[in-house]
Amino acid sequence: MLSYLHGFHAGNFADVHKHAAMRIILDYLCTKEKPFCVIDTHAGSGWYDLGSKQSAKTGEWKNGIAAVQQKANPPKQMQPFLDQIAAFDPIAKGRDYGVFEDDNLTGPFYPGSPFIMREVLRDHDEMILMELHPREYDLLEYSVERDPRIHLHKRDGYEGLVGMMPPAIRRGLVLMDPSYDVKQDYQKAASSIKRAWERWENGMFMLWYPILEAGFDAELRENFTQIKAKGGVLCAELSTNQGGAKGRMRGTGLLIINPPYGFDQQFDEIGQWLCDAVKLPGPATHRTQWLVPSQ
Ligand SMILES: C[S@@+](CC[C@H](N)C(=O)[O-])C[C@H]1O[C@@H](n2cnc3c(N)ncnc32)[C@H](O)[C@@H]1O
Repeated sequence: MLSYLHGFHAGNFADVHKHAAMRIILDYLCTKEKPFCVIDTHAGSGWYDLGSKQSAKTGEWKNGIAAVQQKANPPKQMQPFLDQIAAFDPIAKGRDYGVFEDDNLTGPFYPGSPFIMREVLRDHDEMILMELHPREYDLLEYSVERDPRIHLHKRDGYEGLVGMMPPAIRRGLVLMDPSYDVKQDYQKAASSIKRAWERWENGMFMLWYPILEAGFDAELRENFTQIKAKGGVLCAELSTNQGGAKGRMRGTGLLIINPPYGFDQQFDEIGQWLCDAVKLPGPATHRTQWLVPSQ
């Protein structure tokens, strides 16, 4: 059942939208000295070689991160993310990032969510990663096993998340980034996040979802209107009304519970800029909307 490999899609427009949002939240968490924890329920293999055969097969990163890097005047709140991508170099880090001397790497490289998070963690922060695919898990293990701040589980991210709520460090972010290779993922994601939030009401949660012709996203948004979080539930979507057939994405969405104050405006500016920077199947628009208002 685990057929999805993120290596084919790393650095695409959906990754850029999701990871730029995540980076703003991580930077917000770092504004206070208090420790935080980040939980990534569907971690993937950690980081990606965009020069690999997988990346070349789809070329999706060219319409995502490569297009963004060529566009002038990004919003200033996007700069930490862009600087991180530009500086990301697993070869320079060697074995600490899981690189062995005989690895056949070419680059450029793109950090997945675990490495965007890892590079922002301070010594007293913690990260919990879950991944089920055996090969992706092994790659991830090689690349994080030397870092004492990181706890890695070969575990189902939906039930794993609920099982570990509330976390020992009660300040932080959960990223749920499923592959949606089976339709049940929509229901599982909504139910897992709702149950986890009921046990950790102050936590920030971010769920990624694709926008497809099939339109499964509407039910997901509807489910999130039931989550009456004090900090609200925000929906941010970058999409076009063209394309999207045969499982291809015509847009990307994020549902964010308890986002930091001011995040909605900050991130919408990024989203508007991305409309002209990344390439979707047709003209893109960005929409940021509170599904549940913050109190
Ligand atoms: C979209 S990718 C994750 C990408 C990663 N979050 C990033 O941003 O770089 C989804 C990952 O979830 C894994 N996966 C699928 N079902 C899972 C489950 N029930 N629990 C944990 N991981 C799962 C897949 O093997 C895949 O590596």
